[in-house]
Amino acid sequence: MTTINRKRVAVLISGRGSNLEALIAAAREPTYPADIVLVVANRADAKGLERARQAGIAAAVVDHVSHGSDREAFERALQDVLEAHQIAFICLAGFMRLLTPWFVTRWQGRMLNIHPALLPAFKGLDTHARALAAGMKIHGATVHFVVAEMDSGPIIVQGAVPVFDDDTADTLAARVLAVEHQIYPLALRYLAEDRIQLIDGRCRVADTEPLDGTLIVPQTIR
Ligand code: GRF
Repeated sequence: MTTINRKRVAVLISGRGSNLEALIAAAREPTYPADIVLVVANRADAKGLERARQAGIAAAVVDHVSHGSDREAFERALQDVLEAHQIAFICLAGFMRLLTPWFVTRWQGRMLNIHPALLPAFKGLDTHARALAAGMKIHGATVHFVVAEMDSGPIIVQGAVPVFDDDTADTLAARVLAVEHQIYPLALRYLAEDRIQLIDGRCRVADTEPLDGTLIVPQTIR
């Protein structure tokens, strides 16, 4: 039997933790190449901390408030926790802190983020309301490498969904979230299996194909 060298992953959260849950579920699969060994929240009330504890995963709070406006002091505290757990990769999953170049450089090529829009469209907050306001027919989510500029690193995986005429920001968010839960474990798999090659700022993932074809919205029904 071949043994896989599973990579040690930390998931950083600020809230609900549904993407964390999807990553934990994926990592239960014996052939998955990564283990979620640490969850760090910047707020003690982050709901995702409870999910971590229930799954028997180490959960830490590194509180940004106690570090005031000193972002690097907060990040040094974070870095200490990550090093103590010998973390190989970081997944940001609803982590609502901007990271400084000091931290981002240390984790270059080893830190992922999930964003609820098809980047580079709709960087920042309120992506679903903005996609509706823009009259988008297709919307989605993106997993990308983290770089110093927000929501801007090389794209690893995207998932798309149709936008319906009667969507609200909430119904659209729910449809996108279901896709997030599929693409985040996939992107982490690609990273942990060392299948991502960065060529001129674009990611190429070995042994993959865009199998699903074309999404056209709307389509005639009669
Ligand atoms: C997700 O929509 C993610 O794309 C964004 O923040 C949200 C986090 O949700 N970055 P959850 O905490 O994973 O449920």
